[in-house]
Amino acid sequence: MLTAYDYTTARLADEAGIPILLVGDSLGMVVLGHSTTLPVTLDDIVHHASAVARGAAGALLVGDLPFMSYQPSVEMAMVSSGRLLREAGMHAVKLEGAGPVVEAVHRLAAAGVPVMAHLGLTPQSVHAIGGFRVRGRTQEAAERILGDARELEEAGAFSLVLEAVPAELARTVTAALRIPTIGIGAGPDCDGQVLVVHDMLGLTTGRVPRFVKRYANLGEQAVEAMRAFAREVADGEFPAAEHTYASDSSRESARYGG
Ligand code: KIV
Repeated sequence: MLTAYDYTTARLADEAGIPILLVGDSLGMVVLGHSTTLPVTLDDIVHHASAVARGAAGALLVGDLPFMSYQPSVEMAMVSSGRLLREAGMHAVKLEGAGPVVEAVHRLAAAGVPVMAHLGLTPQSVHAIGGFRVRGRTQEAAERILGDARELEEAGAFSLVLEAVPAELARTVTAALRIPTIGIGAGPDCDGQVLVVHDMLGLTTGRVPRFVKRYANLGEQAVEAMRAFAREVADGEFPAAEHTYASDSSRESARYGG
């Protein structure tokens, strides 16, 4: 699974055969420049998810329920999820945590809405858990995560994201569940893996967590390309003849795509 937040990235990920695309609320940080995911609204997710749905033909599309779009009540979780499936073209929703949201998972699953659960580091609780930290390191915390995972499976979740937990705990949870686990910073024994697309393409600037592997350095390449553009414009090298319309080429299309 990879995250995607726009049409072009969704097209590329689809072409690469990525089976699941998550329109994550991480868009608040990597696309909108916030320091947490908390400011992301349901309208933000609907807007970006609709673009992803237009770009992806083959992937399972999962829309993240953002902070306070499901925590206040089961009804709110149902209405918010309805928007993601109906308006944004998502196939499933993701929500964070257990405890009070387990009932929402149960009702959504019963209503035919596939729910991906998310345990471990749950970024929407960043202030309650004291920062973006590894979770489940003590025996008590590990047992709580395992218990929560079982409850979420029982409630009808079809899969579970495990974020920033020790590899041994992820292995135990994965072995204990029938539904697939998808890890991010959870070691190699989950059934699947997810990365934030900006991280793995090298578009994120600054420090990235240890679990990120960069498969490309598109950020550096982009800066180089932009510098070259500015230089060529200043030097009068761009646009060249091949980028310029002549008066006898009026039937030539100026459209993108095709
Ligand atoms: O919002 C997101 O991108 C996520 C993934 C990191 C799992 O929740």
